[in-house]
Amino acid sequence: MPKDDLTRPAATMPRHIAIIMDGNGRWAQQRFMPRGLGHRAGVKTVRKIVEYCGQLKIEVLSLFAFSSENWRRPEEEVTLLMSLFLSTLQSEINKLKKNNIRLKFIGDRAAFSAALQDMMTDAEAQTQSNTALTLVIAVNYGGQWDICQACQTIIDKMANGQLPEQAIDAELLNQHLSTADLPNPDLFIRTGGEQRVSNFMLWQLAYTEMYFTDTLWPDFNETTLDQAIVSFQGRERRFGHTSEQIAGITAPS
Ligand code: IPE
Ligand code: IPE
Ligand code: MG
Repeated sequence: MPKDDLTRPAATMPRHIAIIMDGNGRWAQQRFMPRGLGHRAGVKTVRKIVEYCGQLKIEVLSLFAFSSENWRRPEEEVTLLMSLFLSTLQSEINKLKKNNIRLKFIGDRAAFSAALQDMMTDAEAQTQSNTALTLVIAVNYGGQWDICQACQTIIDKMANGQLPEQAIDAELLNQHLSTADLPNPDLFIRTGGEQRVSNFMLWQLAYTEMYFTDTLWPDFNETTLDQAIVSFQGRERRFGHTSEQIAGITAPS
């Protein structure tokens, strides 16, 4: 399947939705509650949106859970986010299995405890043959990290003879990104009002349709996701072509 499929009419459902789940802290602060309660409320939204994307038969849902820059937060908040991540993983794994959801983590795992790394590997292994939604959780992820690790892997493979010496092109890089087995996101959503990418999938978002909403992540729901999808369906994706060409395209050129 091509990374950017020109044959799909714009009014179809996105194959891959990527979300920056932002606004948990402000949601809590508006209620005079500690930020941690915002993160807990955010986990409930994750459950809701994962379930709904399953119903909509979305192929891939990617959620930005913790960026490589989020280590800069107060230690107490980082600790809470890590324990929430661990407990959610433990409590949700059976439901994911039951719902035929394949779980995949992207990001630099080296920073996590051995126990957490094992749990992540185990959760992926337990769901690897599932065929409904692929749920990608980006933890300690950065788009710049992803491009660097892909380049490093390519260089290492060339050095030890696994890959012939060749110029790096987009396809070769694609094959070494942490998303190599996935289509690129069709729809990017950022909740919480900020209009920036914050080092999410920098390479993969090259031709993604962007949608920004002021809704804070704990308030995001099926209806607000529908609004984003309707906005997506109203866009004309040209991938560099003219509008007239798009009207006549029947096969990738
Ligand atoms: C997003 O919500 C969750 C993470 C980054 C882990 P925030 O915690 O960034 O919420 P705001 O932006 O402070 O409201
Ligand atoms: C982006 O949100 C990262 C996640 C949602 C995990 P941030 O709240 O960390 O982004 P900035 O710092 O406002 O750009
Ligand atoms: Mg934020």
